[in-house]
Amino acid sequence: MSFKFKMDRNKRIIKIKPILNRFNISKTVSSIYEILNRYEENFQIFIWGVPYCYFPDAFDHIIYKKRKSKNYVKISECSLCRLNKICPGIEKGSVFNDGLKILKPVLSVPNEIVFEVSNKCLLDCEMCVKKNKKDGLKVKTIFKAIDRAADIGVKNIRFTGGEPLIYPQIADLVKYSKNKGFYTIINSSLLCDRSFIKEIGSFIDDILVSVHGFDEESEFEITKKRFFKKKILNINYAIKNIKRVRIGSVITKKLIDNFEKYLIALPSGIKVWELYRPMVGKNFLISKPEFDLNIEDYKKLLTKIKKSKSGYKICIANPIPFCAFRPEERNFLLGGVFDDGYTRIIMDSKGYFKPSYYININLGTEISESWDNNLLKSITWERKMSERCDRCLWFLKCLGGSRYASYEKYGSYKSEDPLIKKL
Ligand SMILES: C[S@@+](CC[C@H](N)C(=O)[O-])C[C@H]1O[C@@H](n2cnc3c(N)ncnc32)[C@H](O)[C@@H]1O
Repeated sequence: MSFKFKMDRNKRIIKIKPILNRFNISKTVSSIYEILNRYEENFQIFIWGVPYCYFPDAFDHIIYKKRKSKNYVKISECSLCRLNKICPGIEKGSVFNDGLKILKPVLSVPNEIVFEVSNKCLLDCEMCVKKNKKDGLKVKTIFKAIDRAADIGVKNIRFTGGEPLIYPQIADLVKYSKNKGFYTIINSSLLCDRSFIKEIGSFIDDILVSVHGFDEESEFEITKKRFFKKKILNINYAIKNIKRVRIGSVITKKLIDNFEKYLIALPSGIKVWELYRPMVGKNFLISKPEFDLNIEDYKKLLTKIKKSKSGYKICIANPIPFCAFRPEERNFLLGGVFDDGYTRIIMDSKGYFKPSYYININLGTEISESWDNNLLKSITWERKMSERCDRCLWFLKCLGGSRYASYEKYGSYKSEDPLIKKL
C-alpha cells in the first residue's frame, strides 16, 4: 500500500496519508481518487501531507501545512494556482521536488460558469433577489462565453435565472453546451410541457428543481403560485429522462417543523435534496422571521436529516460555518467551496460576471479577466483568515462560512460569518 488509511465510522471521517516515492507517485493518485469516489458521499475524507496540486480536483480534501524545520520552494505552476497564497509551496528534497510533471495548478480557470439567462420567472418567491427585475442576456453573449469557456478548459456550464426554461433559445443553448462536452446543469422550477423535458432531457446532466412546500398551500406561501402538483408530476417525469435530478428548497422554520411531510411528498427517485441556508438581508428578516435561522434551528434540522431514511442524499447548501456543528453533522453540509466565487463565477442577467448569485460585484465581461479580478481574489482565496479557521481541518470545505452573510451583518465580505460569532 502506498498510503495509510484510517476510518472513523462514528465521526464519519476517513484519513489518508500517502507514503510516496518516485515509483508509486503516479499510481497512488488514481487509487486515492477511487477511494474518494467510493466514500465521499458518506464520509469526510482528509488527505494528509501532499500539496494541493497533487490532487487538483480534490484539493479541498487536503491538509497541507508548513512544517517548521523544512524549506519550501515555489514552482512555475504556483503562479497559476488559486491556492498560491495559502500554500507554502513544495517541500525541498521531497518526492514532489523531483522534477516529476504530475503537479497541476488548482483552479487556474473556474470549474463552472453560470448564466442567469433572464430574470423572468413563473414564480414570485418571497426571498428571491431577482424579484421584479426584467433584464436578460442576449443569446449571442451566452454562445460567445460558452465558446470561451471551452477554449480555456472550464468543466461545467449551468443555466439559471429567473426561469431558464422560458428563455426562448434555452433548448439550443443546452444542446450546444452538451455537444461542446460540458457537464450541463440547469436550475429550474420545471413548469414546462413534458414534451420539452423529453426534447432536452438527454442534453442535461443534472437538473436542480426548486420545491418550497410539501403541498399546494405551503408551496404557495413561498412562491405565491399554485404549481405544487404540476412540479411533482414533472419531477417524476424528469427522473425518467434526465440522469441526475435534484430538488432544492430554502430552509425556513416551517420547513424544519414539517420536515417529515416533505419526505412523504418529494419523489423518491431524486438523487439529492438540497436545503438552502437563506441568503437574505436584515430588513427582509424583520418582516419575514420565518427565514431568520439560528444554530439551534440548523441543529434541529440536522438531527432530522440524520434520522431520515429517504434513499437520496439530503444536505444543507450555501456556505455555513462547520465549527457550529459536530464532526458527524458536517457530513451533511456542502460548505463554502461551491459559492461566493471560490470555484465558479456567474454571468448576471445584465451581462457582467459576479462572484455569486447574491454578491453583485461587477468583475468584468470576459471569463479570464473576471476570474483574475483582484477584488474577487481578496474576498475568496486570498482573504486573511482568522486563526481559528487557519487551524481547522475542515477549513477548505467550510472556508469560514458565507461571504454574503458577513457582508449583510458587518458590511464587509472579509468579516467572519455571523453564525461563527454566536458560538
Ligand atoms: C433563483 S432560482 C432560479 C432557478 C429557477 N427559477 C428555480 O425555481 O429553481 C435558484 C434557486 O435559488 C433559490 N433561492 C432563491 N433565492 C434564495 C435566497 N434568497 N436564499 C437561498 N436560496 C434562494 C431558489 O429557491 C431556487 O432553488
